[in-house]
Amino acid sequence: MAAVLPVSGLTAWQGLFDHGRLTTGQTVLIHGAAGGVGSIAVQLAREAGARVIGTGRASGRDRALALGVDTFIDLETDELEDAGDVDVVFDVIGGDVLDRSAALVRPGGTLVTIVMPPRVRPRDGRAVFFVVEPDRARLADLATRLRDGRLKPFIGAVRPLAEAPCAFAPGEHTSGRTIIRVAED
Ligand SMILES: NC(=O)c1ccc[n+]([C@@H]2O[C@H](COP(=O)([O-])OP(=O)(O)OC[C@H]3O[C@@H](n4cnc5c(N)ncnc54)[C@H](OP(=O)(O)O)[C@@H]3O)[C@@H](O)[C@H]2O)c1
Repeated sequence: MAAVLPVSGLTAWQGLFDHGRLTTGQTVLIHGAAGGVGSIAVQLAREAGARVIGTGRASGRDRALALGVDTFIDLETDELEDAGDVDVVFDVIGGDVLDRSAALVRPGGTLVTIVMPPRVRPRDGRAVFFVVEPDRARLADLATRLRDGRLKPFIGAVRPLAEAPCAFAPGEHTSGRTIIRVAED
């Protein structure tokens, strides 16, 4: 289970707190809330005492609500703009969804994305694109949360080493992290 943390866990932490500067009592909108990075971000934001709006497809609604989002927006049928103003947007989708999210950011807030440099910036806020960085201490901290049950990782698939090339082939998509099992227990 801990194999999901180096990428998903650190990305979620760095996006919310290092780049997004999310604090208790603020509102964060997390795109792709049922996915690999988003599902961890939802749990960390809740633990930090933030109000969480999650987005995604209808198939992710129940999972996002179970993880603790206060409100879920189905990007295929609901209006993203109904989310209202938020302190932080954490984007894992990019494109048009990212472009439209800039207008949701309150003055002084932050638009954070892990997909692409933002083409549209908040009128009176920051826009950040970042690539996750290694952080041994934070990783240990996240592993503690995993062990004590505060964090539940989203594992999409576990595949043997021999299937690694096809697991990551272009066009292959599994929501959640794909774990490659290098050795049998
Ligand atoms: N910059 C960095 O350091 C960094 C680090 C980690 C990941 N990433 C990137 O971040 C992205 C997300 O990674 P992930 O592991 O969280 O992926 P994931 O597990 O596939 O999660 C993405 C979530 O967003 C949903 N989604 C995607 N497009 C959507 C759309 N147009 N409308 C509604 N929902 C949509 C997906 O739903 P479905 O599953 O139904 O499509 C899924 O629930 C990837 O592009 C990855 O390469 C960047």
